[in-house]
Amino acid sequence: MTILTSVIDGNEAAPTREYVSRDPARLTDVVATVGLGDPDTFVRATQAARRAQRAWADVPAPVRGRVIANLGRLVEANIDALAALVTREIGKPAAEARGEVQEIVDTCDFFLGEGRRLYGQTVPSEMPDKQLFTFRVPVGSVVVITAGNFPVAVPSWYLVPALLCGNAVTWKPAEYAAAAARALSELAWRAGVPPGVLNLVYADGPTTYEGLSRALSAGLVDKVGFTGSSAVGAGIGELCGRHLQSACLELGGKNPMVVAPDANLDLAVEGALFSGYGTAGQRCTSLGTAIVHADVHDEFVGRFDAALRAARIGDPTQDVLYGPLLAEPFADNFEKILGWLTDHHRVLGSTAIGRITDALPRKGFVGDHSAGLFYHPVLLDGVRADDEVFREETFGPIVGVTTYRDLDEAIELANAPGYGLSSSIYTNDPATAFRFRQRIGAGMVSVNNSTSGAEAHLPFGGNGKSGNGSRQSGVWVLDQFTRWQSMNWDFSGRLQKAQLDVATVEPEPDYRLPAHLDGRHV
Ligand code: UN1
Repeated sequence: MTILTSVIDGNEAAPTREYVSRDPARLTDVVATVGLGDPDTFVRATQAARRAQRAWADVPAPVRGRVIANLGRLVEANIDALAALVTREIGKPAAEARGEVQEIVDTCDFFLGEGRRLYGQTVPSEMPDKQLFTFRVPVGSVVVITAGNFPVAVPSWYLVPALLCGNAVTWKPAEYAAAAARALSELAWRAGVPPGVLNLVYADGPTTYEGLSRALSAGLVDKVGFTGSSAVGAGIGELCGRHLQSACLELGGKNPMVVAPDANLDLAVEGALFSGYGTAGQRCTSLGTAIVHADVHDEFVGRFDAALRAARIGDPTQDVLYGPLLAEPFADNFEKILGWLTDHHRVLGSTAIGRITDALPRKGFVGDHSAGLFYHPVLLDGVRADDEVFREETFGPIVGVTTYRDLDEAIELANAPGYGLSSSIYTNDPATAFRFRQRIGAGMVSVNNSTSGAEAHLPFGGNGKSGNGSRQSGVWVLDQFTRWQSMNWDFSGRLQKAQLDVATVEPEPDYRLPAHLDGRHV
């Protein structure tokens, strides 16, 4: 089997350590042996990016847009192969994996046209014969560090706009999604992205931190994009801050769904099932807690429980709600979370709790449960605001349920964990929906739709523990990968000093309308 290594400037970099990426649905299936690099590998990649960036920025933006168009078409032509690789490497069900690859195509479709826009402005000057302008300038050398739950779509949210704007990139994907990362990189190179403009580095977390720290100190990095946990994101933000940089941080979520008394309960259950258990609850937009009005609580929980018990779970190449957890560390983490269940919780949704085994089988399981990292879904009723399971991101197939009596209480509960990525409300009352939108701390709000399923051209990002306010996608991400440069051009032939040489126009402050124009007298 070939070893996948880091690729710097188009050349394979000698690995310092090996990592084995396995199919989490069939752990005996080795998807790739991955050659991890050391901090020096990381630094060399950023040097290559720095060297290549100037020439790439000189390529006219519409031509860079054509490269993005090529990438979109190549991804489309390889959609089956790439989606199958995503399923095999991280266990995402086939239909969802296809949706994930489609999200890359959508992102390319949006940004190919941006190559012909990247608008700056003309701005009037306060003096005659002088013109002001703004230009978008690429930031330069960009480091992108991504998680593996969306191993190709979320990276494309960084790579596509960063490249379109004229930056060069060093991409450090999750080790457990290394093959998918290599596949997307290959497609980018074949689309016409020059080798040094996209460098791929495989490294573990501590190595990446050390390499990034050294690269920042050496002035080789101008922007960092990171998608992952809030704890690691805080560390990266702190490191970037020391170098006067603001990272683009897309972090965890504890995404609430409020079910109002007038909600369409079947719709709410369908949304809760998809956002709570799709990708085995390992999206950053996954549903955390359903906050259900007391009047409809029993009915909602009854229907949700029935739907979850009937759901097909198992082999992700089949039509299932969810497959295995992403990789061993995620299974370990989920086991830890199951330890947070206490006496006041009522566990629903499956035939047992924990890993699906011969001793603890799941009724209707699709495929061979012993082959992979498969877990029973947990629907946890009776969750209280001071429970760990209420306050912390769980990143696995578990959804909590709690109740409320009035909207203020629901919103308070929804905001309480301190995250702020996605949120949702099921109601048919406009006042309830808009009040929720006004007061919820989340960056993204769904009405009669689940917490997951963001479209690729609306701002994506969170507040509080979910991020530092940066937004991806659509035109909004341009502010991450370009900096505004202003220019003023004086063609008067003399020094006109701003603020000092500005013509003034004096009003007559004591003037009052005369009697014939005064409506009180006419
Ligand atoms: C993520 O979990 O990091 O909205 C991204 C969604 C997907 C993207 C999720 N389109 O669920």
